[in-house]
Amino acid sequence: MKAVDEHLLAAEGVLRANDTGEWICPARGLYPHQWLWDTCLIAIGLRHINAARAAREIGTLLSAQWDNGMVPHMVFSPHQRNWFASRLWGTQRCADSPRHILTSGITQPPLIATAALKLADTLARAEIADEQQFLEGVYPKLLAYHQWLYRQRDPEGDGLVALIHPWETGMDNTPDWMELLDRLPRPWWQVLISRLGLTHLLGLARRDHWMIDSAERMSTDRALVAANLIHRYRQQCYDYEAIYSHAPIEVESLFFNAILIRANRDLETIANRIGAKIPNQTRSYFRRAEQGLDKLYDERTRAYQARNVAGKYPMRTLSISSIMPLYTGAISDARAREIIDLLRDDTKFWSRWPVPSVPIHSAYFDQKLYWSGPTWINTNWFIIEGLKLYGYDQEAKYLRTKTLRMIEQAGFYEYFSPLDGKGYGIDNFSWTAALYIDLNNN
Ligand code: GLC
Repeated sequence: MKAVDEHLLAAEGVLRANDTGEWICPARGLYPHQWLWDTCLIAIGLRHINAARAAREIGTLLSAQWDNGMVPHMVFSPHQRNWFASRLWGTQRCADSPRHILTSGITQPPLIATAALKLADTLARAEIADEQQFLEGVYPKLLAYHQWLYRQRDPEGDGLVALIHPWETGMDNTPDWMELLDRLPRPWWQVLISRLGLTHLLGLARRDHWMIDSAERMSTDRALVAANLIHRYRQQCYDYEAIYSHAPIEVESLFFNAILIRANRDLETIANRIGAKIPNQTRSYFRRAEQGLDKLYDERTRAYQARNVAGKYPMRTLSISSIMPLYTGAISDARAREIIDLLRDDTKFWSRWPVPSVPIHSAYFDQKLYWSGPTWINTNWFIIEGLKLYGYDQEAKYLRTKTLRMIEQAGFYEYFSPLDGKGYGIDNFSWTAALYIDLNNN
């Protein structure tokens, strides 16, 4: 086996190879654009080798922020034609969208404040750039983003942000969302396509199908439903207040809210560092969010679960989201203990190469189907952070070692089988490489 140094050099090489000039993309070919949480995860790893460049990644992402505060989940590469994307999203027509670049109209896990704070620590240590100046630059934008989330996306005023599209979770085909998608009526054109037996033909036009076995990805039928949701939101220019009363899907996502709660805390630390004051109303949202997490605890299953806003019921299909409250640092030690028991159950999450995105006993589990079973490096990274926060150092160490070994054996894949550690999805995937670097530095 190669020495760790060689793997670190290879990881650096992956990031260099995915550098498009504008930004470091998730994987050349398959993912040439910029994605919100990918950029944050890339910056978290890249800071150890080029902190100034990591700061630039965050800066580029924030330069695509909408005037209303939203940070879009995708920024489209100016080097691509984007003919389909501009028609699908239609954001050029929305008054709040940036003029200089095409973006999507929805958001993604809000990791930016967390990445910015970690990066600031590195900048300060390495004395490369003025950490204060960096934080002062990003702070107003981060504040506007968090304010937008609570202003636009908290329909019940309980501090829990609701999502309107599965792509906003970052876990595109996570089973509980797929159940909701499957219940939506198909638009007439989709029914026609399927009656004419053309769904498969459309699948041939999918970029991911050219590069990856289609059995690993969301079905074309579901992808069309997801696209149709975008079509509906586009008509309201993604204005949640306009969409709200008839949004076909609205979920208080446990995964997203856990990441947001942690980011709120990091934003408060940033404000303290630069002597800024978070407005009282925003601060009260942050507190409500932490209390709101309690609402997502389901007594019947004794686990945290996402909540369907329209139906007002917990979504009980178990996924890795139920482990995520650990990462917030906002739950009690007793609740953390329950999560550890769930995590360490080897019939569910503690598989040979943990942690599967869907537990291995689930009817939905498929070791190579994207977010429906495979182990992902970013979710392992969140869980390791959470384990450390609650003093489970041994488990953190074990998971860190397993994660690093898995990458060393298989390569910098997008996701991995939790059963035999084999790599799936695209190879040379940026956040796998970046987090390999970060985990080696912690
Ligand atoms: C896939 C993932 C999403 C990620 C994107 C780019 O769509 O599901 O989380 O941001 O790829 O890597």
